[in-house]
Amino acid sequence: MRRLAVVNMKGGVGKTTTAIHIAAGLASRGQQVLLVDADPQGNVGHTLRLQPLHTFEELMTGQTPLSDVVMRGVRPGLDVVVSTPAAFSLERRLAGETQRETILARRFRDQQPYDVVVIDTSPAMNLLTYNALLFAEELVIPVGMDLMAVIGARQTFDGVLQVRELWPERRLGVLAVLPTSVHSGNHATRATLEALECDPAIGRFVFQPGIRQCIDLSYAAASHQTIWEYAPRSRAADDYTRLLDHIERGYTEHIAERGDGYVVHERPAASAFERSAATTA
Ligand SMILES: Nc1ncnc2c1ncn2[C@@H]1O[C@H](COP(=O)(O)OP(=O)(O)O)[C@@H](O)[C@H]1O
Ligand SMILES: [Mg+2]
Repeated sequence: MRRLAVVNMKGGVGKTTTAIHIAAGLASRGQQVLLVDADPQGNVGHTLRLQPLHTFEELMTGQTPLSDVVMRGVRPGLDVVVSTPAAFSLERRLAGETQRETILARRFRDQQPYDVVVIDTSPAMNLLTYNALLFAEELVIPVGMDLMAVIGARQTFDGVLQVRELWPERRLGVLAVLPTSVHSGNHATRATLEALECDPAIGRFVFQPGIRQCIDLSYAAASHQTIWEYAPRSRAADDYTRLLDHIERGYTEHIAERGDGYVVHERPAASAFERSAATTA
């Protein structure tokens, strides 16, 4: 089972949009996909117009098992765990639990009916985000075209390094730093892309050309559709298709820290796709 999380400590950078399109896109390519919303704002459910009987909060407290929390068949091949503001109180309610950072990972322990799990996260290094980082093996880090989003990406890398320090056995790597709302003629875009590419930690992961600015993404969300359903010929449809190709190639590098700062050791993880290709070959 492949485990992806979409993270950035900055809000409004395209995390939810990206998580939905990775999940829906891989499902449309024949994978069995589960999309989990680990952000109490619940934007995944709003975007896809889902009204769940059970939510992420119940999964985390143990009140309801994973199999009962998932909404099945949101699209062919796509199940979803929806979040609501009830999950805001989890931070406080789970404070006394032992190993509270690995609750989500443990909920999946004997439950692996999916090819891919994609997690959307909130823009904060809180307990729920730690749970996402301790579940995921591969990260996609969307970065909007302003410098605050680059700072958010750096903070995300710091969080990843912290996880690696505290849980050295964890396999956690970066699949893509994804520029979003890219507008090539625009000064903010040029400055942000340059800052990303020159960053010693982030530069090598930047997935070019990213996702161009495209108003159809907002219209698609407002009509509760994916971009391929709403505007299949749009720029954003092309760009997210290219991202899916990259994800299916599945090249994730694992990061580690050495004294002075970040280093990367090149340890590509064979993706589920490559592994299944290898076993069927
Ligand atoms: N490439 C893009 N071009 C234009 N608008 C975008 C793009 N990506 C996301 N948006 C819009 O930006 C807003 C924030 O995106 P969202 O995915 O909710 O960010 P986050 O989850 O990081 O807060 C939404 O209204 C979304 O439709
Ligand atoms: Mg969001």
